[in-house]
Amino acid sequence: MYFVSNIIKVTIPNYLAGLPIPDTIGGWFHLGVKDWLALLPPTLAVGGISYYSYKTIKKAREAGTGQINPGIRKDIKKVVDFIDIEDITEKASLCRCWKSKNWPYCDGAHGPHNRETGDNTGPIVVRHKEKK
Ligand code: FES
Repeated sequence: MYFVSNIIKVTIPNYLAGLPIPDTIGGWFHLGVKDWLALLPPTLAVGGISYYSYKTIKKAREAGTGQINPGIRKDIKKVVDFIDIEDITEKASLCRCWKSKNWPYCDGAHGPHNRETGDNTGPIVVRHKEKK
């Protein structure tokens, strides 16, 4: 426990105190390359922590509502689409993940969703039997 305590109480404060953070706004314009390089690791750490916090909170909010539709026509009570089979020339990929920006057609948004969540969603492909 001493190791963790020492990192939090001594090592991190000493490291932060040694960073070349200017006292004035104008001081930022006088920083040299070495100073900016010294500021890079803590900036990346804060940025990374912020990014993952944002992603985690966003994911928790989406999961917390129990809704699968993240934003398609939320102003109506129920999303129903009709596509006349005669209008499909060869085949049509219809979204089943509710992430497509080209709803009701699949735009590939299920791919990033699957990578992010470990899900396995994909479109339903409607095609003419004789044109397979
Ligand atoms: S974008 Fe939703 S299934 Fe492809």
